[in-house]
Amino acid sequence: GRVLVLHGPNLNLLGEREEGIYGKTTLEEIDRRLVEQGKDAGVEVVTRQSNHEGEIIDEIHAARGRFDAIIINPGALTHYSYALHDAVRAVDIPVIEVHLSNIYARERWRRRSVVAAAARGQIAGFGPLSYSLALQAACELIREEGG
Ligand code: DQA
Repeated sequence: GRVLVLHGPNLNLLGEREEGIYGKTTLEEIDRRLVEQGKDAGVEVVTRQSNHEGEIIDEIHAARGRFDAIIINPGALTHYSYALHDAVRAVDIPVIEVHLSNIYARERWRRRSVVAAAARGQIAGFGPLSYSLALQAACELIREEGG
């Protein structure tokens, strides 16, 4: 199986950005761990980060036929990008939404995800572990659904 991990806007600054909320772990470190975890599970993990909505949508489109699952942390796009919602809807690949922070325990505007209803499921609030749990779920889905 193959899993695409997509990180949205500002996640390139992990480790230095709002450390109190997002922690000290860098994106590079998170990606490294996911690739390792994938290896142990016999799944190839490819990671990408973009600050651009359109680029993320292009990546989702391009994943068709190439990946068996997508893990996405859409950053702030989570809360307003109907285009991202539609892109997730448009592809026939299970998409798992991930957040480092508990988006339900912060500002009011973060409580709504417009992407979640299009995704297979959502994991939020566990820091870097959120990604790891999502990859575990993705591996399980691949096993169940084939790929
Ligand atoms: C985030 C939560 C979003 O509200 C925020 O805009 C981010 C990161 C998270 O991983 O907790 O950029 O997606």
